[in-house]
Amino acid sequence: MKYLTKQELAELELHAQHVLTSEISDQIKDTGGRERLHLKIAGLSIDHSRQLVNDSTLDILLNLYKQSKTEKIKADYLKGEPVNLTENLASLHMAMRDGMPAIDQQLKQQITSNRGLYLKFAERVRSGVIRSYNNKIFTDIVHIGIGGSHLGQELAVEGLKDGRDSGPNIHFLSNIDSRPLIDLLRQLKPETTLFLIASKSFSTTETKVNSLRAKSWFLERVAEEDAIKNHFSALTSNPRAAVEFGIPEKMVFTLMPEIGGRFSVWSSAGLPIALSIGSKKYLEFLEGARVVDEHFINQDELSNIPLLTALVGIWNYNFLHCHTLAILCYDQRLRLLPPYLQQLFMECNGKSVTRSGEECEYSTMPVVWGGQGTEGQHAYHQLLHQGTSTFAADFIAITDKKDPIAEHRNWLNAHARAQSKVMSEGWNQKSNSESFKNIRGHHPHTNIVIDQLGASELGSLLAYYEHVTFYLGTLWDINSFDQWGVERGKTIANSIFKELNK
Ligand code: F6P
Repeated sequence: MKYLTKQELAELELHAQHVLTSEISDQIKDTGGRERLHLKIAGLSIDHSRQLVNDSTLDILLNLYKQSKTEKIKADYLKGEPVNLTENLASLHMAMRDGMPAIDQQLKQQITSNRGLYLKFAERVRSGVIRSYNNKIFTDIVHIGIGGSHLGQELAVEGLKDGRDSGPNIHFLSNIDSRPLIDLLRQLKPETTLFLIASKSFSTTETKVNSLRAKSWFLERVAEEDAIKNHFSALTSNPRAAVEFGIPEKMVFTLMPEIGGRFSVWSSAGLPIALSIGSKKYLEFLEGARVVDEHFINQDELSNIPLLTALVGIWNYNFLHCHTLAILCYDQRLRLLPPYLQQLFMECNGKSVTRSGEECEYSTMPVVWGGQGTEGQHAYHQLLHQGTSTFAADFIAITDKKDPIAEHRNWLNAHARAQSKVMSEGWNQKSNSESFKNIRGHHPHTNIVIDQLGASELGSLLAYYEHVTFYLGTLWDINSFDQWGVERGKTIANSIFKELNK
């Protein structure tokens, strides 16, 4: 592992051996000061006390952090310097939620004015001021986009449905598969449907093909070519291509090149969220994230929660050799959090060369996966409890005293706690004849509990994970802001498609 002395490495490896072989209760006894592992930030309670770390491990890992270039990269990141080295770009998504106080005044003004434009548009559509070509209120929005131009948007729209008082229905089209497109369009009336084309590049195949199909569906039903102008809007860094598609400039909301797709919910690409919950709640979503940014910026290494989580991650992936990270959400509203975090963690940190281009001699991000409790308990938890694969996990539960049916909420949370207890403590029958019942336990995991899931808390949760991702990337000395690995397959698919489509 980079940045550690031989002695520190040996100490960590020895401790890892001890952790993997001793009783869980001994480890918990071993670990003085577990309060250090029980943390609160912006409506999130983050409890690492079921992680298999102790104070001395954390102290060595803090040394790793001190030796790494993290602080220098963080300072550059916060000043808006080009931290994305391979594309020579800054990463400004935090500024979209006013979380980067160090950037210059002119840029701040530009951000505020852009935000004003798309939020005004959202309000005018919601209130029926902006209408269809034949003066009808828009009842349905179809958001066409994929990856970072889709995952966070759908997560927030679905996750925050409870807070909706009015506004159009929002539908999402992402895959290039024709069936979801046909099924969706079949339910809609062209004269009350507004299409949002969300694509930073405005050249992603899936989005391009789906948008052209939607445009022809629309034109086949609405004879006036000019009507396109009222029914298609774009969220993009490539406004020229959007205008060429037929979208008028005033319906194009631009996205700075410095906003990575997977960080775009905070920018104009968050428009579907504002259309769904209204601009007031959307601003609460941004504010929830900003509060976590403030913590990320100002807290020192001993009290910086995302940093502590990242150090625990390094311990799990590089020393305890956890093969995967499971995101186990005990709330239907967070159903789409695992795919969102897959992109965030895996596109950012699925890298094997350092920032200066050398091969990494250590593992970086493991596979991230997950699902919903309690459903997962009846599917993959068997392997989690008795299989041979090693994993780390995040449990996410909501206290939700306002649940419409308290009994259901209590069941959800009872199961979340029970699973966490068994994953930690295991269960040993001490009888050889019933070894099939034994559960090893010892699976390192974190319990995240949120009191109420509102826009602000969801914003905080996503920002928390973004900062964990940043710290992991810098501790591994990789560039978390590019994603070159996905390009090759796209190029090959283009030539195979030409063959298939002859
Ligand atoms: O293929 C990966 C990717 O480039 C993501 O990083 C991005 O979020 C997604 O495709 C969509 O890209 P775009 O917003 O340019 O359509």
